[in-house]
Amino acid sequence: MTTTPTEAADASASMPFLSDFWYAAGWSAEIADKPLARRILDRPIVLYRTASGKAAALDDCCPHRMVALSQGWVEGETLRCGYHGLRFDCAGACVEIPGQALIPPRAKVRAYPVVDRWHLAWIWMGDPAEADPATIPSLPWMDSPEWAFSNGTIVYDCDYVLLLDNLIDLSHTTFVHRQTIGTDDVARTPIKTTAERNRVLVERYMNDTEPSIMYVKAGGFTGKVDRWQRIEYTPPANIVIDAGAVPAGTNDKSRGIDTRVVNIVTPESRARTFHFWAFVRDFKLDDAEMTDYLARALTHTFNEDKVLIDGQQRNVEARPQQRMLDNNADAGVVQVRRIVERLARGG
Ligand code: FES
Ligand SMILES: [Fe+2]
Repeated sequence: MTTTPTEAADASASMPFLSDFWYAAGWSAEIADKPLARRILDRPIVLYRTASGKAAALDDCCPHRMVALSQGWVEGETLRCGYHGLRFDCAGACVEIPGQALIPPRAKVRAYPVVDRWHLAWIWMGDPAEADPATIPSLPWMDSPEWAFSNGTIVYDCDYVLLLDNLIDLSHTTFVHRQTIGTDDVARTPIKTTAERNRVLVERYMNDTEPSIMYVKAGGFTGKVDRWQRIEYTPPANIVIDAGAVPAGTNDKSRGIDTRVVNIVTPESRARTFHFWAFVRDFKLDDAEMTDYLARALTHTFNEDKVLIDGQQRNVEARPQQRMLDNNADAGVVQVRRIVERLARGG
């Protein structure tokens, strides 16, 4: 099949968005009574929390004169536009037009379902009738008393799939993250990749290996360790990394560390991406210094990625005809992209 240069450029410049999914709109703590403007899947959204504590999301455009509703304010269970004062409920219905008794049917705004779960506010970007909270990813460690929690947000100037590529293939940690999680053995240890219809699992087991700098600080290891990484992708853009280590040859979890790195990726636009990350651990649960250290270490780590990926995006945009090269370590990358492409085609 031949394509025109324009078609080829469109095909390689960015990946399609998948709408029929729950995305993290932000951390629940970010959604408050002051309206928050946030672009998600290239749609302007206003997020806010009503007096009763319910998180809500509306199209950020007043149907009256099209001013951003995020410039208004919350009143009880409603949001008032800051221009001429129309007031809307959480379903997007207009409930007041100042100076006018009759509310015409067109006075309404699109509402998006929002659910607070696992410290995150999840927004359904597809047909609201299809929104089923049971399909929000299960992240039980996020608010379990048996796990401690550090978190943060990084915003990348890249297509969201470049960030998925980065998270599913941790071989880069050897070269990019030497101050935290990278060691020589990560890149040279072969991976096992399992692809299912809507799931990709990449596993790497490093036995009798040097612990990374962050693992030494976190786990207090004095010698070599047996270390694992199990990286799981599920659509649209969630990657949970089950990672940890025990002293080499002991198989003793009580002397090791068990962690999950939860990565919830939300496209802001074609070339800007939110990364809501959490690091949960099963050790030193009440150690605030450890929580702080891990938050700093992970922020440093993801910012190292950001520098590379933001530059990668600029290269990809400048060379729309060029195809990337796939190595053995890209097995997970290839499978994730296949799932995104299939779902985007409606398959
Ligand atoms: S633009 Fe919102 S009330 Fe007029
Ligand atoms: Fe990284």
